[in-house]
Amino acid sequence: MSDNTKIPHIKSVETRHLEQRESLFRGLQNLDRRNFLKVSTGAAAAALAAGASNHFHSFLPVNVAYAADGPAGQGFSFAYISDSHLYVKKTNERFVRQLLRAVDDVNKLDPQPDFVFFGGDLAQLGRKEELDLGAQILKSIKAPLHMMVGEHDWFFDMGQHWNELFGPQNYSFDHKGVHFVVLMSVQEKDFWTARGMSPAERMHTVAGLDNAVQSAFEVGAPQREWLKKDLEKVPTSTPLIVFSHSPLYKLYRPWNFWTDDAEDVQAILQRFERVTVLHGHTHQVLTNRIGNIQFQGMLSTAWPWPYAPQGLPALTVQMNRPNPFDPNDGLGDGTISVHPDGLVDMLYNLWNRNPMQVKASYLSSGGKSDVPVAPTLASY
Ligand SMILES: [Fe+2]
Ligand SMILES: [Fe+2]
Repeated sequence: MSDNTKIPHIKSVETRHLEQRESLFRGLQNLDRRNFLKVSTGAAAAALAAGASNHFHSFLPVNVAYAADGPAGQGFSFAYISDSHLYVKKTNERFVRQLLRAVDDVNKLDPQPDFVFFGGDLAQLGRKEELDLGAQILKSIKAPLHMMVGEHDWFFDMGQHWNELFGPQNYSFDHKGVHFVVLMSVQEKDFWTARGMSPAERMHTVAGLDNAVQSAFEVGAPQREWLKKDLEKVPTSTPLIVFSHSPLYKLYRPWNFWTDDAEDVQAILQRFERVTVLHGHTHQVLTNRIGNIQFQGMLSTAWPWPYAPQGLPALTVQMNRPNPFDPNDGLGDGTISVHPDGLVDMLYNLWNRNPMQVKASYLSSGGKSDVPVAPTLASY
Protein backbone atom coordinates (compact mmCIF):
# COMPACT_ATOMS: atom_id res chain seq x y z
CA MET A 1 0.00 0.00 0.00
CA SER A 2 1.44 3.27 -0.95
CA ASP A 3 1.58 6.26 1.32
CA ASN A 4 2.10 9.39 -0.71
CA THR A 5 2.69 11.51 2.34
CA LYS A 6 6.05 9.79 2.78
CA ILE A 7 7.27 10.80 -0.66
CA PRO A 8 9.05 14.13 -0.48
CA HIS A 9 7.82 16.66 -2.98
CA ILE A 10 10.76 17.37 -5.28
CA LYS A 11 10.55 20.23 -7.73
CA SER A 12 12.40 19.93 -10.97
CA VAL A 13 15.21 22.32 -11.79
CA GLU A 14 13.00 23.89 -14.46
CA THR A 15 10.13 24.46 -12.04
CA ARG A 16 12.40 26.06 -9.49
CA HIS A 17 14.00 28.20 -12.16
CA LEU A 18 10.63 29.40 -13.41
CA GLU A 19 9.32 30.06 -9.91
CA GLN A 20 12.37 32.05 -8.96
CA ARG A 21 12.29 33.96 -12.22
CA GLU A 22 8.63 34.77 -11.53
CA SER A 23 9.48 36.01 -8.08
CA LEU A 24 12.11 38.31 -9.56
CA PHE A 25 9.48 39.97 -11.70
CA ARG A 26 6.96 40.05 -8.86
CA GLY A 27 9.59 41.68 -6.67
CA LEU A 28 9.89 44.46 -9.19
CA GLN A 29 6.31 45.47 -8.50
CA ASN A 30 7.55 47.09 -5.34
CA LEU A 31 11.12 47.86 -5.66
CA ASP A 32 12.44 48.34 -2.19
CA ARG A 33 16.11 47.48 -2.02
CA ARG A 34 15.88 44.55 0.36
CA ASN A 35 13.17 42.85 -1.62
CA PHE A 36 14.93 43.42 -4.91
CA LEU A 37 18.24 42.06 -3.74
CA LYS A 38 16.48 39.03 -2.36
CA VAL A 39 14.69 38.21 -5.58
CA SER A 40 17.60 38.95 -7.86
CA THR A 41 19.85 36.73 -5.77
CA GLY A 42 17.15 34.09 -6.21
CA ALA A 43 17.33 34.51 -9.97
CA ALA A 44 21.09 34.12 -9.84
CA ALA A 45 20.69 30.90 -7.89
CA ALA A 46 18.12 29.77 -10.43
CA ALA A 47 20.53 30.41 -13.28
CA LEU A 48 23.10 28.34 -11.44
CA ALA A 49 20.64 25.54 -10.81
CA ALA A 50 19.71 25.58 -14.49
CA GLY A 51 23.21 24.55 -15.35
CA ALA A 52 25.08 27.82 -15.67
CA SER A 53 27.98 26.59 -13.63
CA ASN A 54 30.19 29.32 -15.02
CA HIS A 55 27.82 31.96 -13.71
CA PHE A 56 30.06 33.19 -10.95
CA HIS A 57 32.88 33.75 -13.40
CA SER A 58 30.76 36.12 -15.41
CA PHE A 59 32.59 39.21 -14.28
CA LEU A 60 36.08 37.82 -14.53
CA PRO A 61 38.40 39.49 -17.00
CA VAL A 62 37.74 37.53 -20.12
CA ASN A 63 41.28 36.48 -20.86
CA VAL A 64 41.00 34.40 -17.70
CA ALA A 65 37.61 32.98 -18.53
CA TYR A 66 38.60 32.02 -22.07
CA ALA A 67 42.11 31.07 -22.93
CA ALA A 68 42.10 30.58 -26.70
CA ASP A 69 39.84 27.61 -26.23
CA GLY A 70 38.93 25.94 -29.43
CA PRO A 71 39.90 25.45 -33.02
CA ALA A 72 39.78 28.31 -35.49
CA GLY A 73 37.11 28.48 -38.12
CA GLN A 74 34.21 26.68 -36.51
CA GLY A 75 31.74 29.54 -36.24
CA PHE A 76 29.76 30.42 -33.16
CA SER A 77 27.34 33.00 -31.85
CA PHE A 78 27.16 35.46 -29.02
CA ALA A 79 24.45 37.84 -27.87
CA TYR A 80 24.51 41.47 -26.84
CA ILE A 81 22.61 43.78 -24.52
CA SER A 82 23.47 47.46 -24.43
CA ASP A 83 22.73 50.93 -23.08
CA SER A 84 20.32 50.17 -20.24
CA HIS A 85 20.86 53.59 -18.60
CA LEU A 86 19.60 52.52 -15.19
CA TYR A 87 18.64 55.16 -12.69
CA VAL A 88 18.08 54.14 -9.10
CA LYS A 89 14.98 51.94 -9.05
CA LYS A 90 12.53 54.38 -7.58
CA THR A 91 13.35 56.96 -10.25
CA ASN A 92 12.78 54.79 -13.27
CA GLU A 93 11.38 51.32 -12.89
CA ARG A 94 10.68 51.08 -16.63
CA PHE A 95 14.36 50.96 -17.56
CA VAL A 96 14.84 48.20 -14.99
CA ARG A 97 12.05 46.16 -16.54
CA GLN A 98 13.44 46.73 -20.02
CA LEU A 99 16.87 45.44 -19.02
CA LEU A 100 15.18 42.41 -17.47
CA ARG A 101 13.35 41.80 -20.72
CA ALA A 102 16.69 41.70 -22.54
CA VAL A 103 18.10 39.35 -19.92
CA ASP A 104 15.14 37.07 -20.49
CA ASP A 105 15.69 37.27 -24.27
CA VAL A 106 19.27 36.07 -24.04
CA ASN A 107 18.48 33.43 -21.41
CA LYS A 108 15.83 31.99 -23.70
CA LEU A 109 18.16 31.58 -26.68
CA ASP A 110 18.43 27.95 -27.68
CA PRO A 111 21.15 26.99 -28.19
CA GLN A 112 22.68 29.37 -25.70
CA PRO A 113 25.21 31.86 -27.09
CA ASP A 114 28.87 31.29 -26.25
CA PHE A 115 28.72 34.50 -24.23
CA VAL A 116 26.75 37.71 -23.79
CA PHE A 117 28.39 41.07 -24.35
CA PHE A 118 27.19 44.22 -22.61
CA GLY A 119 27.84 47.34 -24.70
CA GLY A 120 28.14 50.07 -22.06
CA ASP A 121 25.99 52.73 -20.37
CA LEU A 122 24.73 50.29 -17.77
CA ALA A 123 24.02 53.26 -15.48
CA GLN A 124 22.59 56.68 -16.22
CA LEU A 125 24.52 58.92 -13.82
CA GLY A 126 27.40 56.65 -12.85
CA ARG A 127 26.20 56.23 -9.26
CA LYS A 128 27.20 53.25 -7.18
CA GLU A 129 23.51 52.36 -6.62
CA GLU A 130 22.83 52.34 -10.36
CA LEU A 131 25.85 50.20 -11.19
CA ASP A 132 25.10 47.80 -8.32
CA LEU A 133 21.53 47.45 -9.54
CA GLY A 134 22.77 46.68 -13.06
CA ALA A 135 25.29 44.15 -11.78
CA GLN A 136 22.56 42.42 -9.79
CA ILE A 137 20.29 42.14 -12.81
CA LEU A 138 23.04 40.97 -15.16
CA LYS A 139 24.01 38.23 -12.72
CA SER A 140 20.92 36.30 -13.80
CA ILE A 141 22.35 35.89 -17.30
CA LYS A 142 23.11 32.21 -17.78
CA ALA A 143 25.93 32.52 -20.31
CA PRO A 144 29.27 34.10 -19.40
CA LEU A 145 29.07 37.87 -19.55
CA HIS A 146 31.67 40.32 -20.81
CA MET A 147 31.40 43.99 -20.05
CA MET A 148 32.27 47.28 -21.72
CA VAL A 149 32.06 50.71 -20.13
CA GLY A 150 30.09 53.70 -21.46
CA GLU A 151 30.38 57.37 -20.59
CA HIS A 152 27.35 57.19 -18.28
CA ASP A 153 29.14 54.58 -16.17
CA TRP A 154 32.38 56.48 -15.93
CA PHE A 155 32.35 60.20 -15.29
CA PHE A 156 30.94 60.34 -11.76
CA ASP A 157 33.90 58.57 -10.14
CA MET A 158 36.10 58.12 -13.22
CA GLY A 159 35.40 54.41 -13.42
CA GLN A 160 36.30 53.49 -9.86
CA HIS A 161 33.18 51.55 -8.99
CA TRP A 162 32.74 50.09 -12.46
CA ASN A 163 36.31 48.71 -12.24
CA GLU A 164 35.57 47.25 -8.81
CA LEU A 165 32.52 45.45 -10.18
CA PHE A 166 33.68 44.36 -13.59
CA GLY A 167 37.46 44.58 -13.84
CA PRO A 168 39.60 46.48 -16.35
CA GLN A 169 37.89 48.71 -18.91
CA ASN A 170 40.07 47.54 -21.80
CA TYR A 171 41.16 43.99 -22.39
CA SER A 172 41.40 41.33 -25.06
CA PHE A 173 40.69 37.65 -25.36
CA ASP A 174 40.70 34.83 -27.88
CA HIS A 175 37.70 32.67 -28.59
CA LYS A 176 37.41 29.94 -31.21
CA GLY A 177 40.00 31.46 -33.50
CA VAL A 178 38.82 35.07 -33.24
CA HIS A 179 40.75 37.76 -31.40
CA PHE A 180 38.43 40.05 -29.43
CA VAL A 181 39.41 43.50 -28.19
CA VAL A 182 37.36 45.65 -25.81
CA LEU A 183 38.26 49.34 -25.85
CA MET A 184 37.37 52.22 -23.56
CA SER A 185 36.55 54.73 -26.29
CA VAL A 186 34.90 57.44 -24.18
CA GLN A 187 37.92 59.09 -22.59
CA GLU A 188 37.68 62.88 -22.51
CA LYS A 189 40.28 65.58 -22.05
CA ASP A 190 39.96 67.31 -18.67
CA PHE A 191 37.28 70.00 -19.00
CA TRP A 192 36.27 69.83 -15.31
CA THR A 193 39.28 70.75 -13.14
CA ALA A 194 39.73 74.29 -14.45
CA ARG A 195 35.99 74.85 -14.11
CA GLY A 196 35.95 73.54 -10.53
CA MET A 197 33.22 71.01 -11.32
CA SER A 198 31.99 68.48 -8.78
CA PRO A 199 31.83 64.80 -9.81
CA ALA A 200 28.05 65.16 -10.30
CA GLU A 201 28.51 68.25 -12.49
CA ARG A 202 31.13 66.46 -14.55
CA MET A 203 28.82 63.48 -15.03
CA HIS A 204 25.82 65.64 -15.93
CA THR A 205 27.91 67.54 -18.46
CA VAL A 206 28.96 64.34 -20.24
CA ALA A 207 25.46 62.87 -19.97
CA GLY A 208 24.08 65.83 -21.90
CA LEU A 209 25.52 64.93 -25.26
CA ASP A 210 24.90 68.20 -27.03
CA ASN A 211 26.77 70.76 -24.98
CA ALA A 212 29.88 72.61 -25.99
CA VAL A 213 31.61 72.21 -22.62
CA GLN A 214 32.86 68.64 -22.78
CA SER A 215 35.58 67.46 -25.09
CA ALA A 216 35.15 64.74 -27.70
CA PHE A 217 35.35 61.04 -26.90
CA GLU A 218 38.64 59.37 -27.67
CA VAL A 219 40.50 56.12 -27.15
CA GLY A 220 43.58 58.17 -26.28
CA ALA A 221 47.29 57.71 -26.92
CA PRO A 222 48.09 55.36 -23.99
CA GLN A 223 45.35 52.93 -24.97
CA ARG A 224 46.29 53.11 -28.64
CA GLU A 225 49.79 52.04 -27.61
CA TRP A 226 48.25 49.19 -25.58
CA LEU A 227 46.22 48.17 -28.63
CA LYS A 228 49.27 48.15 -30.91
CA LYS A 229 51.11 45.99 -28.42
CA ASP A 230 48.15 43.67 -27.94
CA LEU A 231 47.91 43.11 -31.69
CA GLU A 232 51.64 42.67 -32.27
CA LYS A 233 51.46 38.92 -31.80
CA VAL A 234 48.21 38.44 -33.72
CA PRO A 235 48.63 37.27 -37.36
CA THR A 236 46.89 39.46 -39.94
CA SER A 237 44.88 36.41 -41.04
CA THR A 238 43.24 36.14 -37.60
CA PRO A 239 39.73 37.64 -37.59
CA LEU A 240 39.40 40.61 -35.28
CA ILE A 241 36.24 41.73 -33.46
CA VAL A 242 36.60 45.03 -31.64
CA PHE A 243 34.08 46.47 -29.19
CA SER A 244 33.91 50.20 -28.55
CA HIS A 245 31.15 52.17 -26.84
CA SER A 246 31.20 55.13 -29.22
CA PRO A 247 31.40 54.31 -32.94
CA LEU A 248 35.05 54.12 -34.00
CA TYR A 249 34.41 56.64 -36.75
CA LYS A 250 33.22 60.22 -37.00
CA LEU A 251 29.49 60.42 -37.54
CA TYR A 252 28.04 63.45 -35.77
CA ARG A 253 30.09 65.58 -33.41
CA PRO A 254 27.25 67.65 -31.82
CA TRP A 255 25.87 64.45 -30.21
CA ASN A 256 29.27 62.84 -29.66
CA PHE A 257 28.39 60.08 -32.12
CA TRP A 258 32.09 60.30 -32.63
CA THR A 259 35.54 59.11 -31.61
CA ASP A 260 38.09 61.84 -32.03
CA ASP A 261 41.08 59.62 -32.74
CA ALA A 262 39.06 57.18 -34.86
CA GLU A 263 41.43 57.40 -37.84
CA ASP A 264 44.42 56.53 -35.66
CA VAL A 265 42.63 53.48 -34.28
CA GLN A 266 41.42 52.43 -37.74
CA ALA A 267 45.03 52.68 -38.97
CA ILE A 268 46.07 50.16 -36.32
CA LEU A 269 43.28 47.78 -37.40
CA GLN A 270 43.59 48.09 -41.18
CA ARG A 271 46.40 45.55 -41.63
CA PHE A 272 44.04 42.75 -40.57
CA GLU A 273 42.11 40.97 -43.28
CA ARG A 274 38.77 40.74 -41.47
CA VAL A 275 37.81 43.32 -38.88
CA THR A 276 34.42 44.01 -37.30
CA VAL A 277 33.76 46.83 -34.85
CA LEU A 278 30.62 46.56 -32.71
CA HIS A 279 29.61 49.66 -30.79
CA GLY A 280 26.94 50.90 -28.42
CA HIS A 281 26.04 54.53 -27.63
CA THR A 282 24.02 55.38 -30.74
CA HIS A 283 20.96 53.27 -29.72
CA GLN A 284 19.93 52.41 -33.30
CA VAL A 285 20.52 50.20 -36.32
CA LEU A 286 23.66 51.72 -37.78
CA THR A 287 26.06 50.09 -40.24
CA ASN A 288 29.15 51.31 -41.98
CA ARG A 289 32.25 50.15 -43.76
CA ILE A 290 35.56 51.99 -43.92
CA GLY A 291 38.32 50.19 -45.83
CA ASN A 292 38.12 46.60 -44.68
CA ILE A 293 36.50 47.45 -41.33
CA GLN A 294 32.81 46.61 -40.89
CA PHE A 295 30.90 48.58 -38.25
CA GLN A 296 27.61 47.63 -36.59
CA GLY A 297 25.80 49.53 -33.85
CA MET A 298 23.89 47.90 -31.02
CA LEU A 299 20.33 48.62 -29.93
CA SER A 300 19.56 50.10 -26.51
CA THR A 301 17.15 48.72 -23.93
CA ALA A 302 16.34 52.23 -22.63
CA TRP A 303 15.43 54.53 -25.53
CA PRO A 304 16.14 54.86 -29.26
CA TRP A 305 18.05 57.92 -30.43
CA PRO A 306 16.86 59.56 -33.64
CA TYR A 307 19.23 59.37 -36.58
CA ALA A 308 21.85 62.10 -36.81
CA PRO A 309 20.41 64.98 -38.84
CA GLN A 310 23.43 65.46 -41.07
CA GLY A 311 23.04 62.07 -42.73
CA LEU A 312 24.01 58.45 -42.36
CA PRO A 313 26.67 56.11 -43.70
CA ALA A 314 25.56 54.93 -47.15
CA LEU A 315 25.26 51.30 -46.01
CA THR A 316 22.86 51.96 -43.17
CA VAL A 317 19.38 50.55 -43.76
CA GLN A 318 17.27 52.58 -41.40
CA MET A 319 14.98 51.20 -38.78
CA ASN A 320 11.67 52.99 -38.89
CA ARG A 321 10.92 55.86 -36.62
CA PRO A 322 9.75 54.31 -33.37
CA ASN A 323 6.19 54.75 -32.28
CA PRO A 324 6.37 57.56 -29.71
CA PHE A 325 3.41 56.10 -27.83
CA ASP A 326 5.08 52.74 -27.35
CA PRO A 327 7.90 52.93 -24.80
CA ASN A 328 9.36 49.62 -26.02
CA ASP A 329 9.46 50.49 -29.69
CA GLY A 330 12.87 50.95 -31.29
CA LEU A 331 14.49 49.07 -28.43
CA GLY A 332 15.93 45.60 -28.31
CA ASP A 333 18.97 43.39 -28.10
CA GLY A 334 20.61 41.06 -30.56
CA THR A 335 22.59 38.06 -31.63
CA ILE A 336 25.83 38.00 -33.55
CA SER A 337 26.68 34.99 -35.69
CA VAL A 338 30.38 34.68 -36.30
CA HIS A 339 31.13 32.88 -39.56
CA PRO A 340 33.96 30.39 -39.79
CA ASP A 341 35.88 33.12 -41.66
CA GLY A 342 35.43 35.51 -38.71
CA LEU A 343 33.06 38.05 -40.24
CA VAL A 344 29.71 38.54 -38.53
CA ASP A 345 26.00 38.67 -39.30
CA MET A 346 24.22 40.99 -36.92
CA LEU A 347 20.65 40.21 -35.89
CA TYR A 348 18.86 43.23 -34.47
CA ASN A 349 16.13 41.85 -32.26
CA LEU A 350 13.82 44.88 -32.37
CA TRP A 351 11.12 44.48 -29.78
CA ASN A 352 7.58 44.69 -31.21
CA ARG A 353 8.85 44.63 -34.79
CA ASN A 354 10.30 42.10 -37.14
CA PRO A 355 13.95 41.39 -36.44
CA MET A 356 16.44 42.79 -38.91
CA GLN A 357 19.57 41.01 -40.05
CA VAL A 358 22.55 42.86 -41.45
CA LYS A 359 24.90 40.32 -42.97
CA ALA A 360 28.63 40.59 -43.40
CA SER A 361 28.10 39.89 -47.11
CA TYR A 362 25.95 43.03 -47.41
CA LEU A 363 28.78 45.15 -46.04
CA SER A 364 31.53 43.26 -47.92
CA SER A 365 29.71 43.72 -51.22
CA GLY A 366 29.27 47.45 -50.67
CA GLY A 367 25.52 46.99 -50.36
CA LYS A 368 25.08 44.94 -53.56
CA SER A 369 24.05 41.59 -52.07
CA ASP A 370 21.92 40.46 -49.15
CA VAL A 371 20.28 43.84 -48.69
CA PRO A 372 18.58 43.74 -45.25
CA VAL A 373 14.82 43.75 -45.09
CA ALA A 374 13.92 46.96 -43.30
CA PRO A 375 11.63 46.64 -40.29
CA THR A 376 7.96 46.87 -41.00
CA LEU A 377 5.91 49.55 -39.32
CA ALA A 378 3.37 47.16 -37.90
CA SER A 379 3.96 45.40 -34.64
CA TYR A 380 4.01 41.68 -34.73
FE1 LIG B 1 23.72 55.10 -24.27
FE1 LIG C 1 26.90 56.34 -24.40
